[in-house]
Amino acid sequence: MPQIVNDLRQEHGSFAKLFDILERQLTIFHNNGKPDYDLISDAIDLLFHFPHRYHHPKEDAVFEKLAQREPAVASNMADLKQEHDALHDLTQKFASNIESVISEEEIARDEVIENLHKLADFQHRHMQMEEDDFLPVALKILTPEDWDELDARAADANDPAFGAEAKSEFSVRYEKILRSLNG
Ligand SMILES: [Fe+2]
Ligand SMILES: [Fe+2]
Repeated sequence: MPQIVNDLRQEHGSFAKLFDILERQLTIFHNNGKPDYDLISDAIDLLFHFPHRYHHPKEDAVFEKLAQREPAVASNMADLKQEHDALHDLTQKFASNIESVISEEEIARDEVIENLHKLADFQHRHMQMEEDDFLPVALKILTPEDWDELDARAADANDPAFGAEAKSEFSVRYEKILRSLNG
């Protein structure tokens, strides 16, 4: 299995876990309890920066290859790039809701929860489409040379948007969040 596909699938698992954490904390918030705001900030910060900076560029590169090999197949698929942009906008909106909550600005709790659900549903549907459709189709169509090229790019530490440096920064921050749950 190409490393880039393993990484993408693993990242989907991590993003889903971060959404679970947010969901649990925001339920506390919704019930007028005291959520862990540091945990919420850390999770949303990771979900705001990393998919956009690091996960989506890899998928966009796989998609580009697919479109070169089989334009008709790629054009029948959901518009990955457009969904990534929409996800980024929704995440930004939710992150700014959370900022308002933390700085104790006036904001309706229902609106915050609604925006989280909108974002989580979209992200979930998007990842499901990638797992069920996009990645299996790419695995069928791209050649071993295509995957070698994509893997090499993904492993290049000098590529700030795509590289190994972002990967290790993500892992460190993600593991820290998981540890804080157990600690
Ligand atoms: Fe994606
Ligand atoms: Fe993805």
